Amino acid sequence: MDIEDILQRGQQQVAKAEDLRQLDDVRVGFLGKKGELTALLKQLGTLDAAERPKAGALINQAKVTLQQDIEGRKDQLQQQELAQTLAADTVDVTLPGRQPVLGGLHPVTQAMYRIQDIFTGAGYQVVAGREIENDYYNFAALNIPSHHPARAMHDTFYFSDGTLLRTHTSPSQVHTMERQAPPIRVICPGRVYRRDSDLTHSPMFHQVEGLVVDEDISFADLKGTVTDFLQRFFEKELQVRFRPSYFPFTEPSAEVDVQCVHCLGKGCRVCSHTGWLEVMGCGLVHPNVLNMSGIDTEAYSGFAFGFGVDRLAMLLFEVDDLRLFFDNDLRFLRQFA
Ligand code: FA5
Ligand code: MG
Repeated sequence: MDIEDILQRGQQQVAKAEDLRQLDDVRVGFLGKKGELTALLKQLGTLDAAERPKAGALINQAKVTLQQDIEGRKDQLQQQELAQTLAADTVDVTLPGRQPVLGGLHPVTQAMYRIQDIFTGAGYQVVAGREIENDYYNFAALNIPSHHPARAMHDTFYFSDGTLLRTHTSPSQVHTMERQAPPIRVICPGRVYRRDSDLTHSPMFHQVEGLVVDEDISFADLKGTVTDFLQRFFEKELQVRFRPSYFPFTEPSAEVDVQCVHCLGKGCRVCSHTGWLEVMGCGLVHPNVLNMSGIDTEAYSGFAFGFGVDRLAMLLFEVDDLRLFFDNDLRFLRQFA
């Protein structure tokens, strides 16, 4: 019988099997139901009774040997496979870890905090206003009756129920005077809205309103307050000028310009070639406004100002287009983190 032959071929094939599948094919070919060694066992019946036990033992011995070879090879192949996977999935533990990205405050928020710090340090209270106002607070109570031409200065967003998005923070003057008696010393920061868009105008922007009502308040107090504030804000000597202007709710009125930081006053596209950037309106509170809000004009007078925070941020951070603040481009914003 060719048991030895079969066993040898089986062992060679086991040694040559390159993966677990091939190895299993070999197992089936020799030890499976129709395998060669199994077939030999089935032929035992054709042998003489005397030879059967010896032949059966030999075949079984061959089966056990081949089975052991298969197990051994299987171990080898599994080890190989594991080694390959490990090599392919290697983690380089010496690489630096991923740093968490730190966020930062928006430049307009930074300017806003800076402003609030300066005024609270000078004894001002910070009050909140409303972004949705009605005609009375945004206009009428500020001495801007309907059909007053000054309404055209504010391109207003109206809602269908007659309310509107406030066009400035000045309505907070009225709310404050209705709520509290003099002496009053408040600022009101917040968002305001107008149909405006160019290098120095955005449809949503930020203002900070200031209101001081007390005995003997004069224009000199206003001028000193504003100049002092601007110097603290910029921490450097920028030229500032007060330009006579008109607001229905102040008399006399002025607008304040700061020297353009981009051209240092020479004139460029950012300042429309004037060398100056307008940052606020201000004046002594109009007696009509004080009266409408129930303040005794015999005893008290006041000043008010309202400035553009985004404009101040433009000047502080030397940004040449105000709309960049609202594009949410991280490449821009990360510079201020
Ligand atoms: C007013 O809004 C007045 N309420 C200011 C005021 C308050 C005057 C109290 C007197 C007393 P004006 O429209 O000029 O004024 O706006 C004030 C400032 O807001 C401007 O100087 C400018 O810095 C800024 N500003 C105005 N429009 C825009 C805009 N579309 N985008 C960004 N900033 C703006
Ligand atoms: Mg103006």
